[in-house]
Amino acid sequence: MIIKRVKNLSGEINIPGDKSISHRSVMLGSLAKGDTIVHGFLQGADCLSSISCFRAMGIDIENENDKVIIHGRGLHGLKKPDSVLDVGNSGTTIRLMSGILAAQGFDVEVDGDASIRKRPMGRIMTPLSLMGADIKSKNDNGCAPLLISGRNLKGIHYDSPVASAQVKSGVLFAGLYAEDETSVTEPYVSRNHTELMLKDFGADIITSGKTVTVKPAEELYARRIDVPGDISSAAYFIAAGLITEGSEIKIKNVGINPTRDGMIEVCRMMGADMDVDEIDNGSAEPVADITVRTSSLKGCVIGGELIPRLIDEIPAIAIMACFADGQTVIKDAAELKVKETNRIDTIVNNLKAMGADIEATEDGMIINGGRALHGAVIDSKLDHRIAMSFAIAGLNADGETEIVGSECVDISFPDFFEKLRKMW
Ligand code: S3P
Repeated sequence: MIIKRVKNLSGEINIPGDKSISHRSVMLGSLAKGDTIVHGFLQGADCLSSISCFRAMGIDIENENDKVIIHGRGLHGLKKPDSVLDVGNSGTTIRLMSGILAAQGFDVEVDGDASIRKRPMGRIMTPLSLMGADIKSKNDNGCAPLLISGRNLKGIHYDSPVASAQVKSGVLFAGLYAEDETSVTEPYVSRNHTELMLKDFGADIITSGKTVTVKPAEELYARRIDVPGDISSAAYFIAAGLITEGSEIKIKNVGINPTRDGMIEVCRMMGADMDVDEIDNGSAEPVADITVRTSSLKGCVIGGELIPRLIDEIPAIAIMACFADGQTVIKDAAELKVKETNRIDTIVNNLKAMGADIEATEDGMIINGGRALHGAVIDSKLDHRIAMSFAIAGLNADGETEIVGSECVDISFPDFFEKLRKMW
């Protein structure tokens, strides 16, 4: 994809459904009794991987347009798949599903693409093993492929060394099948969609500060789910509207769950001209229309409890920081190294290629804003969030920016470039 500077951006946009909630709707819908109907499901490759894994375990899932119907077979209704479960590029699928598979009455092998085979699975294998699970890395390197043999599990209390919703959720799913209650404490609260959805599906689950406790379940009950727009996908349009001259963009129906809204807080810290108009939807997952206008941004420091609330938005925030006055420091974000790519490296190397003043640190990066960017060849390394963030940078750079591997936007935002093009 070749991107050139634009004069301005304007318009209204509906962004695709939330990726985290879409994955969880497939998993919980499969384990519930009855039909779960999901509106606004994200038709990105990652969520389709979750659908294909649960179909392979005997769940009938209809998927037409934006509506997905999952004919759940109950907590003990999964069947042994005929072959290896393929999660594609999806870390959420493999880590959450591992918690479910650890308690089934069969053995499975779970694998994914080259990126998945490099990502750490020890973080989910450790707590599941403490629960009595039989889960191994086939090549003994702490990564996929994983070999999982279903077992009876016991409840544990797990002090997670990382604030990771994938780890927390995998353990909570396993906890549904354990003999006694299971709890997870995190260093900082990560996204809480699993907790909210488990409650909706009838599980006995309580959150107290940084600790979540789930009781073993007898049954989950099918639900209707309305998936809000994904704030992580909105992030590119928020950044684009703020840094592109003469722009105003309205992004509709964006999920603003407080465990996910760190980007909004950062925009405010940076002095963004932004309206967040909450829509009363009566749901545990709040939504808002977000309007952004071209702004004189200023640098800020981002770290601590904010990091899990905006971890996937850091590539877009790094682009904004290049257009801000002064220095932006991103710290406490070593988790970026184990995402689809090492995002500290992919952000820093690609922004350097565009002429930015940016340095990598052990747990983040330091960006001195205000230096004009020029076009460059950007290697996305097939990381969807890198491809989309650098497209936004390219709209505001001199000359041409080529995004190599731009088709990877399909992972979370299949019509990203079409939607972006309609804004100029
Ligand atoms: C996700 C949790 C986060 C996030 C990922 C989706 C989830 O990962 O980066 O894109 O749906 O639970 P970690 O749990 O590794 O922080």
